[in-house]
Amino acid sequence: MLKKEILDALNDQMGFEMYSANIYLSMATWFDEKNLTGFANWMKVQYEEEMFHARKFYHYISERGGRVIIPGFDAPATEWDSPLAAFENALEHEELVTSRINNIVATASEAKDFATLNALQWFVAEQVEEEANVDGIIQQLKLMAGAPGALFMLDRELGQRVYTPPADSAE
Ligand code: FEO
Repeated sequence: MLKKEILDALNDQMGFEMYSANIYLSMATWFDEKNLTGFANWMKVQYEEEMFHARKFYHYISERGGRVIIPGFDAPATEWDSPLAAFENALEHEELVTSRINNIVATASEAKDFATLNALQWFVAEQVEEEANVDGIIQQLKLMAGAPGALFMLDRELGQRVYTPPADSAE
């Protein structure tokens, strides 16, 4: 059985992952409106990833005999000044997610909840990848400095991203 403080922290993070999904879906609509359908595709895949993260927390809470609570959500932003601004916003958000995961790790560690610590390791590793993926696109956007041809090429590249749920992890 989960201690209440751990259950609350896990539920809170599950909701935050769903909120993250909404942010990326909102970014997808912005890119679709600009006819940057490859960027929109990347964001839709990111939405799927965030929902996977949420379901992974759901599964873990249930497995430990906890009650999952679905929260209400703040509305995500709907406008960004440029593709670069949207991705910088995404990186800022991922850094926030990383700090939230680290805080839960610290809480679980203090509570000597080793099963939760073990489950959270997947998220610790995932956040390294999440930040690196977004940062890689930011670096490309900075290098091309708004050149339309390069933006079109990157749009085509991001259009290739496909959502593949990790095979080796329970959700
Ligand atoms: Fe679920 Fe992008 O962190």
